[in-house]
Amino acid sequence: MTNFASLINMDIYVNKFTTRFFSIFEKYLSKVTPESLVNLLQQKNDFKNLFKRLNNEIFGAYLCDNFVYWLNNYVISQPFYCIDYLKGNTTLNDLCNNFIQFCFKQKISLDSVKALTAFQKHNLLTDKAIKIELNKIKNKETINLLGFGLGDGEYEKSLAKYLIAIGKTRKVILYGYDPYSRKNFDIEYLTIDKINNDKIVFDVIIARWVLHHIELKYRWNDFIKCVNRINFGSKIIIIEHGFLMYASLLYERIYILFTAIFDVITNISLRPEYFLDSPEIGKNFYINYLQMKDFLNFKQTIINNNIDFKVYDIGPDFLNQTICRIDMVKN
Ligand SMILES: C[S@@+](CC[C@H](N)C(=O)[O-])C[C@H]1O[C@@H](n2cnc3c(N)ncnc32)[C@H](O)[C@@H]1O
Repeated sequence: MTNFASLINMDIYVNKFTTRFFSIFEKYLSKVTPESLVNLLQQKNDFKNLFKRLNNEIFGAYLCDNFVYWLNNYVISQPFYCIDYLKGNTTLNDLCNNFIQFCFKQKISLDSVKALTAFQKHNLLTDKAIKIELNKIKNKETINLLGFGLGDGEYEKSLAKYLIAIGKTRKVILYGYDPYSRKNFDIEYLTIDKINNDKIVFDVIIARWVLHHIELKYRWNDFIKCVNRINFGSKIIIIEHGFLMYASLLYERIYILFTAIFDVITNISLRPEYFLDSPEIGKNFYINYLQMKDFLNFKQTIINNNIDFKVYDIGPDFLNQTICRIDMVKN
């Protein structure tokens, strides 16, 4: 077991939320194996009860019921594919694409408003953590805020209002970088060329639930180009789904499987067109969660290394959220 915290001499609060996740599985299984896990997920009532305990009333019934319904049906239909994934013989991305195709073949249709409502409590947790970070930035006449992979940017718009409301600034200029999203006319969407050529400098960068959807070979390239265009005193906030550091591989896989299937169900609810845009359903959809080593590698790539860097978890037990916060400190 590597003690990352001592290696990199920083404050890490990772993992305090995930211990409960595994102890709940152990209440249902005397021996946790890929086969016994798949068997458990095939038993609708047991699975439903287990998930109820994991969820601990964070997500509303609409998302939970759909999560259990679709995963239970999928595992009944493709048990060997799931066992293969749990054994490490199939990648998470392949499993997710297979699951997405299964759902659309079965004519999945979900309601975005109900899904968003079911997400409320969870979002409050994330939002509270982000606002605690924003409360610490210095007052500035104008704040340039970049939403990286911001989608329609409604969340960034709400943060701009918040910064003005708490008196951090009089004006927030909202920038966006997202090659694939529907554009919001209140936001200036940028290309990487424009970011480089116009020499725009950012005070705050938010990347919420984006990086795990970008293929590994591209993941950091564009993000780092944005990050290297920030001011002293500015703040970068990355919000990702939690990762595990001290779990066995099998536990890690079941945890990630649950997170990914929940992610897929949420994305099908909120943006089904994303899956149906290409003739091969789900082809656009990529998923690969970040690990601690990804954050550490990222840290090394920031040009100005006079930074205060912190990775911490904000819970809940499921879907746990990890925040990576970087403050650019003045020399
Ligand atoms: C789960 S959504 C999150 C949207 C938004 N950040 C939020 O918190 O609501 C993932 C977003 O990542 C964007 N995305 C996917 N690949 C990207 C890339 N290579 N660069 C930037 N954004 C990307 C998608 O278009 C989508 O808007």
